[in-house]
Amino acid sequence: MDAKVSKKNLNWAELGFQYHKTDYRFSAVHRDGQWSEGALVSDEMISVHEGAPTLHYAQQCFEGMKAQTAEDGRVLLFRPELNSQRMNDAAGRLLMPEVPQDLFLRGVEEAVRANYAWIPPYGSGASLYVRPMLIGVGENLGLKPAREFEFRVFVSPVGPYYQQQGLALISLAVSEMDRAAPRGTGSYKVGANYAGGLMATRKAQELGANEALYLDAAQGRYIDEAGSANIIIAMDNNTLVTPDSRAILPSITRRSLMDIAARQMQMKTEQRPVDLRGEFAEFREMAACGTAAVLSPVGRIWFDNDWHVVNGDGQSVGPVMQELYDRLTGIQNGERADEFGWLHEVEL
Ligand code: PLP
Ligand code: COI
Repeated sequence: MDAKVSKKNLNWAELGFQYHKTDYRFSAVHRDGQWSEGALVSDEMISVHEGAPTLHYAQQCFEGMKAQTAEDGRVLLFRPELNSQRMNDAAGRLLMPEVPQDLFLRGVEEAVRANYAWIPPYGSGASLYVRPMLIGVGENLGLKPAREFEFRVFVSPVGPYYQQQGLALISLAVSEMDRAAPRGTGSYKVGANYAGGLMATRKAQELGANEALYLDAAQGRYIDEAGSANIIIAMDNNTLVTPDSRAILPSITRRSLMDIAARQMQMKTEQRPVDLRGEFAEFREMAACGTAAVLSPVGRIWFDNDWHVVNGDGQSVGPVMQELYDRLTGIQNGERADEFGWLHEVEL
């Protein structure tokens, strides 16, 4: 691929988090117990059998990651091996074949490289969102796993998820609906979890919030996560807390932020159940975090029929979240030293 191919003429700074058709996607098929070599294709449409288990029984999982352009032109992925691992955890849970890590990484790299012209330039504020997916296809009717599967990776240039550029406060509304049961599929990135969440997100938005916040399904007491992101909370005593729950997605962004806090900011870190009503008064700063969300500080939360402002202000970004954001995004875009060894450069 000629890395000097010119960039598309997009208004990168104005991009939202929408699908933007790019030129190529990677596709491999699992049939008779074997993965095909996989190849780039240009057709964005997938043709599947009307009985395909992905359509009826949600036998599918997906991943989300971003490629960024560094100042020196390198194209950087952030910890893609963890996305590969998480996809295979989901595949195992839904009786789908694992995607070998070398196939996963090759698919991601080929899709990114082939769409070089769509990778937002350094400093544009946008990035290339990468969506790997694994779906159960082929003819089927009864409740049983598919016999054929497709692994596909498409990419799309994106801007901020919650509509604001840079570090801006968001609001969350506690959902009256549950996202996932303690022994359900909440800790896997499977589409079924998200279908049930569409209405919760809609209701949160009707209240004027950006996203739903879920409490644990058993007691409705402890914070689980937001509809599209994990939660982190800065408490007094230089402590960063994140909810411990079997029902939430193990966010790669959250794990990275906890490491940054512990090792670069000398904070105490805790993963433990967080009682929303019982501990809210102690919250100094709070944020949602994820690949799409990056780090989005939370200014206020709706629960018990009222808005509750985080730390009595709700207007400004606190110093802990600001520093975490700067450190994380600085590593991701190559501006800061990658002392954890998290970056994966895509050969152009
Ligand atoms: N929680 C949910 C429900 C998500 O959809 C995501 C997005 O991937 C996250 C958390 C954040 O995970 P990650 O940081 O690995 O993107
Ligand atoms: C991501 O952050 O990558 C996600 O998958 C969240 C999704 C709801 C857009």
